[in-house]
Amino acid sequence: MNLIFGMEIMKALILSGGKGTRLQPLTSTHAKQLVPIANKPVLFYVLETIVEAGITDIGIIVGETHEAIRAAVKDGKQFGPDVSITYIYQDQPLGLAHAVKTAQPFLQNDRFLMFLGDNFIQESISELVRQFSAPDCDCQAQVLLKQVDNPQQFGIAELQTDDGQSFSGEHCVPDQQVRIVRLVEKPKEPVSNFAVVGIYCFDSPIFEAINAIKPSWRGELEITDAIQHLIEHDAIVRAHIVQGPWIDTGNKQDMLNANRVVLSRLKRNIAPSASIDDTSRIDGDVILEEHTTLINSVVHGPAIIGRNVTLSNAHIGPFTALAHNCVVTNSEIAHSIVLEECLIRDIDGCIEDSLIGSQTEILPSSVRPGTYTFLLGDHSRVGTH
Ligand code: TTP
Repeated sequence: MNLIFGMEIMKALILSGGKGTRLQPLTSTHAKQLVPIANKPVLFYVLETIVEAGITDIGIIVGETHEAIRAAVKDGKQFGPDVSITYIYQDQPLGLAHAVKTAQPFLQNDRFLMFLGDNFIQESISELVRQFSAPDCDCQAQVLLKQVDNPQQFGIAELQTDDGQSFSGEHCVPDQQVRIVRLVEKPKEPVSNFAVVGIYCFDSPIFEAINAIKPSWRGELEITDAIQHLIEHDAIVRAHIVQGPWIDTGNKQDMLNANRVVLSRLKRNIAPSASIDDTSRIDGDVILEEHTTLINSVVHGPAIIGRNVTLSNAHIGPFTALAHNCVVTNSEIAHSIVLEECLIRDIDGCIEDSLIGSQTEILPSSVRPGTYTFLLGDHSRVGTH
């Protein structure tokens, strides 16, 4: 155990392997953790949240997309001078608990924070990390939970206070007095609406629990089964309830929601090198990055336009993020994420609710004017080429 000023030093483990089937075809060529939200990869928000909580010794589980993840995160110094990154290769995505087991040589017996690399929260986790690394911490695991409207679709926790009363969240009780007594995956008749978020704190008994469980029906070692095993073997597993937004960016709509949440809090900022002609207009909170050119175009905030983007007779926004080096001509895009180096031209209608991979070309086709919604992988071609 490593101690500093009486507090145990925690490590962090970010899970950035996986298959990303729900985001195909984009994830056939692109790591889902690198899909940008307001022009910054989801994974970077995760790293910033971890470093802000004071953790600098960080392991990242990587799989097939390891090269892209290494190229983006590098040695981690862009997130803080003391940050140290260890990449841990998981040869097959055999489940969240399998990823933890794969990371055991890095984690050793230290307490650690586990964070799914595609999960997005806005609030700080400093207090959680402080509680879990405090010398008087009495629990072997602490799990973040969020109250949801559709508990049938999540892993759900049944909670009790330490004096044995069932806890449904109607009154405020400190984390140190609430424990998880059962976890149920996608319950038909939910016992509560507390969903398991992809952020957890663990102590070393989690490894024994993982060694004791068997793969689930989908062939994966499930972290919920490992936590349930801890509970059944008298470990104390505490809850920490997330108050602000939590988004698992596993599918297109969730990505777009996260984009919307981040764009909503951006403040207007126009780079001095941006060129905006007299017939163009910028409404509301818009970020125009370096060397952006607007010709007879409207950008309606909240929106972010990356560097070296050219807009000509275009209407962009609201809630739209265009990454760098895109060209949009005679077209309208709203509520969308467009990755770098795309060409979108002469679309008679509006592109909406779309997630468009990098270096994609969308050109006019024989289809009628209307509203288009796309989920496109990198290098896609749409329309008449
Ligand atoms: P999931 O979203 O549960 O799984 P997935 O990424 O394979 O996606 P899909 O369900 O669409 O096929 O994974 C959550 C996070 O954990 C994500 O960042 C990928 C990561 N992960 C691993 O690192 N290793 C694994 O074995 C698994 C299953 C996921």
